[in-house]
Amino acid sequence: MRIEYRSLHYFDADCDLLAYVIFEDAKPKDASLQRLNRKAGNLPASLLATGEFKAELHKTFLLHRPAGMKARNLLLLGGGPRQEFGLARLRELAGNAARNARRAGCRRVAFLLPQGLPPADCARVAAEGALYGNYEPDAYKTNDKKTREVEEYVLLLEKGGKAEELAAAIGKGCIVGSATNLARNLANDPANILTPTRLAEIAVVEGRQAGLKVEVLEREEMEKLGMNTLLAVSRGSDEPPKLIVLEIPGEKKSQKTPLVALLGKGVTFDSGGISLKPGEKMEEMKADMAGGAAVLGAMIALARLGTKKPVIGLIPAVENLPSGKATKPGDVVKSLLGKTVEIINTDAEGRLILADAIAYARRRGATQLVDVATLTGAVIIALGKVNAGMMGTDQKTLDRLRTNCSITGEKMWQLPLDKEYRKELESEVADIKNVGPRWGGAITAAKFLEEFAEDTPWVHLDIAGMDLDHDERPYAAKGATGFGVRTLVQLLV
Ligand code: BES
Ligand code: ZN
Ligand code: MN
Repeated sequence: MRIEYRSLHYFDADCDLLAYVIFEDAKPKDASLQRLNRKAGNLPASLLATGEFKAELHKTFLLHRPAGMKARNLLLLGGGPRQEFGLARLRELAGNAARNARRAGCRRVAFLLPQGLPPADCARVAAEGALYGNYEPDAYKTNDKKTREVEEYVLLLEKGGKAEELAAAIGKGCIVGSATNLARNLANDPANILTPTRLAEIAVVEGRQAGLKVEVLEREEMEKLGMNTLLAVSRGSDEPPKLIVLEIPGEKKSQKTPLVALLGKGVTFDSGGISLKPGEKMEEMKADMAGGAAVLGAMIALARLGTKKPVIGLIPAVENLPSGKATKPGDVVKSLLGKTVEIINTDAEGRLILADAIAYARRRGATQLVDVATLTGAVIIALGKVNAGMMGTDQKTLDRLRTNCSITGEKMWQLPLDKEYRKELESEVADIKNVGPRWGGAITAAKFLEEFAEDTPWVHLDIAGMDLDHDERPYAAKGATGFGVRTLVQLLV
């Protein structure tokens, strides 16, 4: 899809569908609404007056052949309360317009950006949203493609905004939007196709194209290094494990320049291993690499955006299956950091691969850690599918993440990490065991990771529950969400 800014009046936009946002509490006297009414034969005003269209958030009304306009269709798009309007909302509205256009078979869309926010920011998030909404996970449908893609998406403004500035902002939005869709493709891909090997290949090809340095550590190297908690998870599978390392050298101004490591759980399929999961919904565990996909997407976007900050991305990629070679409950392994782990439950595998990845990141000089993982069902019990869980020892970054979500739309809520929780991981035979009791499961999982981050400032995002949507949204197809890409980019750009 081509996205561009054009400086023309929306009356003159030659397109198949023109999206016009109306806020729930818009006054009939609103000057811009009055202009629209005068042009469109007073239809919007009468629809609002009769209540046929209420302008509630994401509600739409499609008018064919609107009077006085070049557009073939006018989409009245409910913006919800004006007071709640912000960049996160605008992104969704732009996505909604793309999805409505797809549904109506409209291939050339124009979207009038509402007034009130900085135009460049608007253009950036609208481009992100347009790409997000236009995405449909139908790669494996051979003929039954329900809707057709939007080909052209034009952003318009009633007033203000400089053309070059807006074009640059759209460019940024496209970078982040396509990186998010890449992450969604990876998480939607079935596990027979997206194996650790395939994930590594994609990281190499896409990463290098974006200007990243990419290395892949193979099993032998990991054995030599002693990454035994990572290797323990992949033992049961015939698919070899990969540790994907992505690098943005950035500008190292002094010895003190921080090196941020982004770590993403890359379990391409999580059957639970010997601690086998029940069959119901097990297919969703093809998305247990969503954290890794978010890290890959974010690193690609950061490289393309030309960030000056040194960053490394680490994606431990494995498949967790039972077999005669698989790790068994009760097994003890020695991690890269040297701490020994009693593996009580082989289904608590994400923390095992991340433990070694964290130790390795620190060995490579990382001074700040951010991990993203579909780590626990417990975080879904705690926060549902609205907020990701965030925990960690780097309170400054946690605070930034909390406020950034008004821009990124990726909500997260902090859970505590009191030292009392550590007692739950006391092992009789090793330094630590990999699971605690059911209660507080998201926290004890994080507590386990903290053991390997030690004194390196660290943030953990538990995105189980946020990685997949079970229903379509007005602005998004169902399936993988790409959650985390925008958050990580916003943090480091
Ligand atoms: N990948 C799962 C967590 C998960 C559950 C993600 C549901 C998305 C949706 C993780 O590896 C896991 O199995 N966690 C266990 C931990 C338990 C054994 C301590 C869980 O949450 O049940
Ligand atoms: Zn898992
Ligand atoms: Mn598991």
